[in-house]
Amino acid sequence: MTGHLLPSGSTYSDAARDHLWMHFTRHSVFEPDGLNQPVPIITRGQGHLIYDDHGREYIDGLSGLFVVQVGHGREELAEAAAKQARELAFMPLWSYAHPRAIELADRLAEGAPGDLNRVFFTTGGGEAVESAWKLAKQYFKLTGRPGKHKVISRSIAYHGTPQGALAITGIPGARIPFEPLVPGAHKVPNTNQYRAPEHLRDNPEAFGRWAADRIAEAIEFEGADSVAAVFLEPVQNSGGCFPPPPGYFQRVREICDEYDVLLVSDEVICAFGRIGSMFACDDFGYVPDIITCAKGMTSGYSPIGAMIASDRLFEPFRTGMTSYPHGYTFGGHPVSAAVAMANLDIFEREGLYQRVKDNAPIFRSKLEGLLDLPLVGDVRGEGYFYGIELVKDKTTRETFNDAEAERLLRGYLSKALFEAGLYCRADDRGDPVVQLAPPLTCGPAEFDEIYSRLRSVLADAPNHL
Ligand SMILES: Cc1ncc(COP(=O)(O)O)c(C=O)c1O
Repeated sequence: MTGHLLPSGSTYSDAARDHLWMHFTRHSVFEPDGLNQPVPIITRGQGHLIYDDHGREYIDGLSGLFVVQVGHGREELAEAAAKQARELAFMPLWSYAHPRAIELADRLAEGAPGDLNRVFFTTGGGEAVESAWKLAKQYFKLTGRPGKHKVISRSIAYHGTPQGALAITGIPGARIPFEPLVPGAHKVPNTNQYRAPEHLRDNPEAFGRWAADRIAEAIEFEGADSVAAVFLEPVQNSGGCFPPPPGYFQRVREICDEYDVLLVSDEVICAFGRIGSMFACDDFGYVPDIITCAKGMTSGYSPIGAMIASDRLFEPFRTGMTSYPHGYTFGGHPVSAAVAMANLDIFEREGLYQRVKDNAPIFRSKLEGLLDLPLVGDVRGEGYFYGIELVKDKTTRETFNDAEAERLLRGYLSKALFEAGLYCRADDRGDPVVQLAPPLTCGPAEFDEIYSRLRSVLADAPNHL
């Protein structure tokens, strides 16, 4: 409750429709002269469940937005925030430091692979990506290769919305309204095995080699003297959870070393247990030069993000008059840093990393049980992070046209899943997919529930095309 009352007779849904600008949202859905649907209002959460303003219960099948790793309603995280706000509510990291940011930097450096020992805090993932590109540019300027400024990323990948990060993002619909973006961001194919070139579809190793070699080709094409960094998610989210084929990251690492290009592992979703380890590059056996992370670091109880850089990248900043002229007022906020520490305590105490590793095969095989349905073409992912691709024709892998995808996803699936008590994501930024990323506290009982709700909705989907 706040001291502010909504106008009498006005519901949350009315006031949201009239005053709240929702993110990535088509507002016509809520307008009286549009679809006139109520704004879904979520009022509270407990464990893996969330509740709406009518008291209806939903499984949080997406951990909010790949965020709430330890589940909702954790008293100790609320307490950690309150305690820190009482002790020191705010102090920036501009030439001064505070204990919680120092402790958290130390803990992340300890958890990160190789010599990734330097932690630059932000308030979220897009800022971390933005920071990584800026660091890559400045690093090469400081070390005598000022022409290296371009970046390479993958088609359909999402890396955030600041204009630098958006240039790295490979989703045309998210970019086009804001062009021209920061120049120098080039795209290569992603690791969608299901839609790999025909001759590579059944050979993941060869496909991985092929996809990695597209990065070398792009570097050659642009000129190695002009390329600073490659941005890759361990498992690409957008398009519906594309894991790396075997050997992919090992080949990418070789390519980056050969051309002296930085490898940025964008782990905004994949870090903090989503795949199994604190950092997902460990799950796939590669050491990047930079990790970007956010979301699960606090399980969403307070916002924070980070760019974790190698000792090599920090070296030019250790001496003389040089600084990295970049920062955010709220980066490394004391309350968020305190919450992150308490959150990581829960991970350790409850063995959540191991829990994901143990349960992931069970979750996967449960979801693979949907493959007998006429619309389910592919189930893919890793850890607690899966995409289910829907297709018109399973034999030819033909996808839906725009009008069909619109009817299927927006006209039916999103609403039907929610009505069935499952909050998850039906997405068509690539081919149509349903995505699942439940809290890491979930186990076989919750997988069964998710499966049966999904099954009933997907089985009925052909009637709504
Ligand atoms: C891989 C990746 N990078 C960056 C971002 C942007 O993070 P934020 O929304 O916190 O700015 C996201 C958000 O989903 C993401 O998935």
